[in-house]
Amino acid sequence: MTDEDLRARLAPYLLKTKDADQSSVDAFLSRCSYVSGPYDGSEGFGRLERSMEALEKQSCQCRLGRLYYLALPPNVYPVVCRGLKENCDSMDRSNPESWIRVIVEKPFGMDTESSEELVEQLGELYDEHEIYRIDHYLGKEMLQNLFVLRFANCMFSSMWNRDNIANVQITFKEDFGTQGRGGYFDSFGIIRDMIATHLSQLLAFVAMEKPATLHPDDVRDEKLKLLRSVEVASADNCVLGQYTKKGDEPGYLDDPTVPAGSKTPTFASIVVYIKNDRWAGVPFIIKAGKAMDDKKCDVRIQLRSPPTFIFDGNPELLRNEIVLRLQPDECIYAKVVVKTPGLDMGTEVSEMDLDYRRRYPNTVIPDAYSRLILEAVRGDQQHFLRRDELRAAWNIFTPLLHQIDRGEVPIHEYEFGSRGPTKAEEQVDDVGYKRPIDYKWQLRHLSCTDCVLEDE
Ligand code: BG6
Repeated sequence: MTDEDLRARLAPYLLKTKDADQSSVDAFLSRCSYVSGPYDGSEGFGRLERSMEALEKQSCQCRLGRLYYLALPPNVYPVVCRGLKENCDSMDRSNPESWIRVIVEKPFGMDTESSEELVEQLGELYDEHEIYRIDHYLGKEMLQNLFVLRFANCMFSSMWNRDNIANVQITFKEDFGTQGRGGYFDSFGIIRDMIATHLSQLLAFVAMEKPATLHPDDVRDEKLKLLRSVEVASADNCVLGQYTKKGDEPGYLDDPTVPAGSKTPTFASIVVYIKNDRWAGVPFIIKAGKAMDDKKCDVRIQLRSPPTFIFDGNPELLRNEIVLRLQPDECIYAKVVVKTPGLDMGTEVSEMDLDYRRRYPNTVIPDAYSRLILEAVRGDQQHFLRRDELRAAWNIFTPLLHQIDRGEVPIHEYEFGSRGPTKAEEQVDDVGYKRPIDYKWQLRHLSCTDCVLEDE
């Protein structure tokens, strides 16, 4: 590509963003250029260095910061980082304001050991404060909001424990399959792709203690402590699945990029327990699946039933729930029992809800990557993984992953577009989730006055 080719490729995306006009897009694009080269050898990196020097001279006559975003397969991180270090590290290190940062993205290895090896290799080249391990879920609005919701509201902070909470479900569903990405996916599987990474971070945010301050290390210390308190996941508490064909929708094994006869799970539901005073005995059901009936990610906190109940109805089926929907359509709602309007003293489940589209109609919620890249530019590591956190998350799942890799855990089939293996539904019932009867969550958008979204 030439610089012009690159700019022509970027322009349509930039023009689509809110408030973008041609002149600001042109001004931005004039700062974008393209340099190509192989992962190894010094020649390409030398060209990159010269190109950056020229840009720095032209724009500010200074060399304050460089952020390298490695949109590459992790197996080449070490060689590329070495190339950068040896050829593109001409920063003025004596200037305290000068910096180099490197953003890397998962998969960080296949298990604790391989992840540690990668961490070690990069650690020989860059210091921990220079490495930004991105997990884009940490840039999601609702995940960050969970933090505020929990730690800025007595209403939630006082009830956030085993005395009040019966179970927690963290669910990720996609309504499409691997779609030709099977080559990548097959070597990892849904646990490495989603659960040991994004959903473990979400678990940490749901369950961690309040940090002393918002300093990145205070926050990450608490996340680390929580992850270290999670009991190692076991095969007995895990249901795996792989999707099969339904009508015109191909099954996982029909994807030509998936190796024939693959035993890689595309669905997993794992119940984990946290060994601390706040959470002992509370099941956390972490569930992720591809090719399912819906596309969404949410956290569902089910409270215990009141110890006594003086109204008609079964309190077990009228439990309070707090649901945080990360996507699509960010919202928080609480299911509460209210009096059925009218002359009788009947009860029913209704909701108190905060629907972002209705409450903040003109607000654009930034994309997770936009937010995180901006944080990296600002040098804020709060939403990036520290190496000890990464190790703690791998430790939870590594023994189970090895058992799965050895083919020791059964894989149940589920049809494309279904709710996943029925065994997973039984697992949720077995750990005590009570399914509310006859309840539909009424979602009232500005643009959609009477649409009804099904609440599981
Ligand atoms: C990626 C996974 O990290 O996250 C994908 O590799 C998954 O398999 C994606 O589809 C989900 O991200 P989001 O932001 O669309 O929920």
